[in-house]
Amino acid sequence: MSEYLPFTRPTIDEQTIAEVGEVLRSGWITTGPKVAEFEQALTEYLGGGRLVRTFLHATGALEEALVVCGIGPGHEVIVPAMTFAATANVVLRLGAKPVLVDVDLRSRSLLMDQATAAVTPKTRAIMPVHLNGLAADLDAVYALAGKHHLRVVEDAAQAIGTLYKGRKIGSFGDLVVFSFHPNKNLTTIEGGAVSLADPDETRTLEILRFHGITKHADGTMDVTRPASKHNLTDVAACVGLGQLRHLDGFNQKRRQLANRYFEMLADDRLGVLPARGDAGHSWHMFTLLPRYSSACPDRNTLRQRMHQRGIGLGIHYQALNQFTLYKNMGYPEGSFPNAERIGRETVTLPLFPAMQLSDVERVCEALDQCLNSR
Ligand SMILES: Cc1ncc(COP(=O)(O)O)c(C=O)c1O
Repeated sequence: MSEYLPFTRPTIDEQTIAEVGEVLRSGWITTGPKVAEFEQALTEYLGGGRLVRTFLHATGALEEALVVCGIGPGHEVIVPAMTFAATANVVLRLGAKPVLVDVDLRSRSLLMDQATAAVTPKTRAIMPVHLNGLAADLDAVYALAGKHHLRVVEDAAQAIGTLYKGRKIGSFGDLVVFSFHPNKNLTTIEGGAVSLADPDETRTLEILRFHGITKHADGTMDVTRPASKHNLTDVAACVGLGQLRHLDGFNQKRRQLANRYFEMLADDRLGVLPARGDAGHSWHMFTLLPRYSSACPDRNTLRQRMHQRGIGLGIHYQALNQFTLYKNMGYPEGSFPNAERIGRETVTLPLFPAMQLSDVERVCEALDQCLNSR
């Protein structure tokens, strides 16, 4: 029997593990020189003359990015109905209203005509999500934002290394937020970062990520906001530096694996394939809407059968209005046909850099058996 194949697994090399040991022995383990080095390395990696500030997680980074944009009670923020809950939760936490919009079935990205129709005088921001590592239609997003004077907070949690029309996500645009959770293409165990252009807003983010503190040269400090605490540790930053050395290689491997999935599952043979994107797709996840039938009636059956064959399938994601919180906000079932269908049917196939092409073949053969025989 082959080894169990999870849908994802981080790859951390021995050099990074040794360097983490050095940080742990150094006497400085929280935010310090490694965080500064990691922020500098991310700045150089993204390019575009951006400013990058790290956070403990993307959730906190998204929330503070919205604070920087002045989002609060009485405001509306446009959010896709198909995303991880954090994208919309942070809007609610600030007392603003996430206005949900359906997504395209294959790209799983905001439907821009619906986003356009969702703009009201209360709208202050839009949050495109680069789901699964595929860039959203940023030309359309920024055109809409420009027309209505909206801020854009890009949820690029899943898009480190993704290109939009040849430019790295986070090398341009308004505020762009990455996640470094263990599932992501680059991990710091937990972590996140904001890429932005404005030095004053960057200073505000620094204050917001650390107790509202401004430090003075004489060693005293002032506190100007009742802020929270989101600072990344040097241990985490050290993991991130090790990951960054491999990021382009990891993403290249992800593309190869995704290409093999497309070859094996051609013409939607076993279900609706995701949008293929271009060479800039970083393939954070490979998702499928499987073709269920009387032989395999639902996702639960499929996941159990695949698990018995030693293969893990993920679920990314349920639609936001399939959760009590958002359903009760006035988004009953039927509000977002595509997002809800994805939410009911989607599975995430294994995809991570340490996989081999033969693993992809094994997954596709098992899928065929599990979907088509009882
Ligand atoms: C689209 C999206 N947004 C936000 C987040 C939150 O990221 P973090 O776990 O770093 O807070 C995630 C993480 O899964 C995500 O996938």
